[in-house]
This record gives sequence, structure tokens and C-alpha cells, in this order.
Amino acid sequence: MDKNDLIIRVAGEGGEGIISTGDFITQACARAGLEVYTFKTFPAEIKGGYAMYQTRASAQPLYCQGDTFDVLCAFNGEAYDLNRSRLLPGTAFVYDGPGGDFEPEIPAGVHGYAIPMTKTAKEMGNPKAKNMVALGALSQLFNIPEQALREVITAKFTKKGTTVVEGNLNAFAKGRELAAALAKTDPWKLEAPESKRDVVVMSGNDAVGLGALIAGLDFFSAYPITPATEIARYVARHLPKRGGTLIQAEDEIASASQVVGASFAGKKAMTATSGPGLALMGEMLGMSFMSETPCVIVDVQRGGPSTGLPTKHEQSDLFLAIHGSHGDCGRIVLSVEDVSDCISLTVEAFNLAEKYQCPVLLLSDGSLAFSTQTVAYPDPASFKIVSRKRWDGHGEYKRYAITDDFISPMADPGTPGGMHIATGLEHDETGNPNYSPANHEAMQAKRFRKLDGVVNDFPPAEVDGDGEAELGIIAWGSTIGVAREAIARLRAEGVSVKGFYPKLLWPMPVEQFEAFGASCRRLMVAEVNFLGQLAHFIRAETSLRPESYTICGGLPFTPAMIVAKVKEMLA
Ligand code: COA
Repeated sequence: MDKNDLIIRVAGEGGEGIISTGDFITQACARAGLEVYTFKTFPAEIKGGYAMYQTRASAQPLYCQGDTFDVLCAFNGEAYDLNRSRLLPGTAFVYDGPGGDFEPEIPAGVHGYAIPMTKTAKEMGNPKAKNMVALGALSQLFNIPEQALREVITAKFTKKGTTVVEGNLNAFAKGRELAAALAKTDPWKLEAPESKRDVVVMSGNDAVGLGALIAGLDFFSAYPITPATEIARYVARHLPKRGGTLIQAEDEIASASQVVGASFAGKKAMTATSGPGLALMGEMLGMSFMSETPCVIVDVQRGGPSTGLPTKHEQSDLFLAIHGSHGDCGRIVLSVEDVSDCISLTVEAFNLAEKYQCPVLLLSDGSLAFSTQTVAYPDPASFKIVSRKRWDGHGEYKRYAITDDFISPMADPGTPGGMHIATGLEHDETGNPNYSPANHEAMQAKRFRKLDGVVNDFPPAEVDGDGEAELGIIAWGSTIGVAREAIARLRAEGVSVKGFYPKLLWPMPVEQFEAFGASCRRLMVAEVNFLGQLAHFIRAETSLRPESYTICGGLPFTPAMIVAKVKEMLA
């Protein structure tokens, strides 16, 4: 047992304040100087259904949510039922009792702590504060810093009034008192490190919003959709203060159209959506590519198809991201590994969109959207910011001039002499519609050949490990962090394994894939979708024939799953 790497899972019913409780634990751990990586899952309903929040805290850097919990806090019988198979010897189990809706059996070797959460909160005349009784107990039992928790509780509930703040602080204190009366038998205890990193705790969605602001976002339009809405909420809090514009559009088609329009007008523009919204944006992807108008589209993937699993994790929009829309429609597709990437790759998405005057899709996912992690607050001045090539005002203006690098200077509307047509119809160098065979071939070649530079403009994909390996694991999106941890564990056991973590998915860095493939005897692509979408593209675009390891149960991989799969493959 590594007591410096503790996973606390709080589980119960949506509406019981599970998410707030997990957030409080996370904030307090981060204030104590611990690294945190959280994972939460909740129902699509506003009230009812299973909600779970898991905080992993460690003095060491964390790359993923880990395997399973060391501490489970169950608010109700459903939470107990869904987690009882993971109550392994050595785990600590804090549950609502007596007076809760269930009476658990404590398996041999499990450290059970009964805390009458519901009963105590009711007796205090504050049933809503059941979660604070639980939080107090967790704080006492596992050394989650009391003062930091008091501060975050106060900060969260201040807007609800002093009675709510005081009621919750009292319930928190009562929870600590109840737990102090119990004999602690488990080994779990958070220990703050001696030195602290200067960090903030951020979710993937907020980090995308921050990255967009750093990149110089002027205009944002979106239609709300889980799990992407928080990006709009973040941008709404900050963009208007900087003179930018945010619109909640009537649907995703309108939001993408507004983004392309704003970009045509010279503004840096972005929308954020999830798979169903991206499906609706197909026509505007074509418009952006055809009219060579930069735009950034963030797709926070969720379980599909159709309405699918709105609040659950999946990496299943890669086909749509790479080829969605009609005709031969180019674009750049990036994908983020973690919260830090959500900042830096959003900046990169704008830079690439501006430079190559095309749509750039940034793929995040449901796990990362809500996952909070400790990250160093970025220095905006440390980022390189690219703006589009603009016309210098000399000579005859041709919006779609075929230049050496196939990128044509843009002229903002109103630029003297820069009047032009930007249309979805095929057009000649001036922008005038032209459907001749030779023109269409020349202009398609122009639009695609300008993208030839993208692979060299983007940092090479990271290779995790040196030399030759028995097995190479290729992972993308938030699965990368899980693969990192799995590979570290496998190496510690002497297994010959390497990792390859592409973040530019399209245009595909084919040579980099080939080079990695050449250094591994076998290849496996781990991804959270049914069809093995990245593996499909690798087979189509390279000479490699990787095996697929896919899951699609609405949850991310755990390192233990990848470790087990690798051992099975190499057995
Ligand atoms: N005292 C007072 N208020 C408390 C409290 C306490 N002790 N504990 C929590 N609350 C409040 C929270 O502040 C929050 O209110 P707010 O929104 O005004 O801040 C509210 O109770 C809910 O608590 P929270 O901890 O945020 O969530 P939860 O664990 O109870 O779960 C959700 C509720 C989040 C799962 C659910 O409301 C939800 O949003 N589901 C997803 C819906 C969705 O996205 N569907 C998909 C559509 S396609």
C-alpha cells in the first residue's frame, strides 16, 4: 500500500451534494500541497441516479484517476451495491449508518466506519448537510486538512447566505466529532508534502476556456450540451470583460455559422460542443475549409451515437472529426491528454487555424472535461501567438491567390481595395464562383497542399521509452495518462513495453507512426470506443497493423486494465 497515493471515492445519489463533497476534498488536498487528479461520473438526470466523485491525491505527479479507491464513502444503498465488489481487504469504508437506507456487510479485512450521516443532519434540522457530516468524518479519519476544508465550504456557500454557511460548518464539525469517537484501524492518512508547488486546481473544460483567452479569443458562440457547457460558462465569465463577444446560439448549426462569420470579419472565433453538436456542424466545417476561414471547434466527446450516454466518457468521434462533412473536406484534428494540454493545445489550435486558414478541431472527452487536476498556472506571455497572414494593401488583391506555401493573405472586411467574395461555392483566385474542372482541381490542391506543413509545425508525438520493445502501446486523449502509468508499472516488472502518444491526429504524422512501429515487435492501440477508430486510421494511412484494445462502457480505462491486457498479449 502506498500511503502517499490515496484515492477517496464519494458515492451516492445525484442531488445529495456528492459533487460538492468531492470538490471540497480536492480543493483542500491541493491547498495542502498535494497533487490531485479527480474523476467524476453523474447521471443525466438533475436529481436521482448514481453520482460518484473520486479524488486521487499524492505528493507525486499524477497522470490518471488510478485503479480503484482506498477509501469509499457511501451515502446510500445503491452506492454500496455498485462498489461492494471493490471493497478489497485493506480498503476503508465509511457509510451512512445507523439510520441510512442500507445495512452493509463489511467484508473481511475491510475497515468499516459507520457514520449516521442522514440521521445527524436531520437531527441538526439541516438534512441537506448530510454531505457535510460525511465530509467532517472523512476529514477526521484521513487527515484531510480541517482548516482548508472550512475555508472552501465557506467560499462555496457564502452566496447562499450565512445561515447555510454556518449550518454546513456545524454539520462538518459534528462529522469530525462522530469519527473521532471511532477507533481508527486503517492505515490511510493524507500527508502534506514539505514543499508546495505553485498550482491551481482546474477542470479540463475551464482549461480549454483559459487557453482560448490566452490565444486571443474575440468571439465565442455555442449551444449548451453536456459535457461541453462549462467551456461556455468559463468563457462567459471572462470574455466580455476583455471586450469580446459571447452568444448562446439557437443551435449548433447557428453557433458554427456565427463562428465562421466572425472569423471572416477578422476575429479569432471558437465554438465548443459534443458529438451530437459536431454532427450538426458538418456543413460549416465544409464552409470553413472551402472559404479558407479559420475556426476552432472544440468537441468534448461523450458516449454515442445519437443522444447516447450524455454524461459518460467515450473517445468515439474520431471518424466524425477527421472526415465529417461532405466532399473532400480538410481540417486539422488535435487531441488533449490532460488539463495542462487543454490550455496549451487550445492555444495551438488557434495558432494552426490562423496560420492554415482552415477548421481546427480540438478533441477532449467526458472524463477530462470534468476531471480536475493540479496545474501550474500558465504565464500567458510564455505562449507563442500566431495571427493570420493579412494582405499588405499593395497591388491587385486576390483572396485565394495561389502562393508558394498555398496560404493566401486575408483582408478584413472594410480594408480598402480588399473587397472580395468568400463563398462556399468553388471559386477562382479572386473568390468569384468558377466550376471549371481545371479550377476545381487546382483549388482543391491548393487547399489540401497548404496543410502539408502542419506535421512539421507541430511537436513530434512523444515516445515513452527507448530502443526496441516487445509491445508498443499507442494511446490518444485522456487514455495517454492511463497508458503512462500502466507502462511504468509494466517496466518495473521487467516487461518490454513502449508508448506512443500522438496529439496531432490529422493530418496524420505517418512517418512518426512508422518509426515507432518499427521499434516494436507488436502494437496495440488502446481507446475508448467500439470500433477502434484510431487503429482504423493507422491501418489505413500507414503500413502498420496494430491490434485494438477497446472498451466502451462509459468509463475510462484504468492502468490495471492495460497492464492485464499487455500481460495477456505477451503471455
Ligand atoms: N448545503 C446547501 N447546498 C448544497 C449542499 C449543502 N450541504 N451540498 C450541495 N449543495 C448544493 C450545491 O451547491 C448545488 O447547488 P448549486 O448548483 O446552486 O451550486 C446543488 O446542491 C447540487 O449539489 P452538487 O454537489 O453540485 O451535485 P450532486 O452531487 O448533488 O449531483 C448533479 C447533482 C450535478 C449530478 C445533477 O444536478 C446534474 O447536474 N446532473 C447532470 C445533468 C446533465 O448534464 N444532464 C445531461 C443533459 S443532456
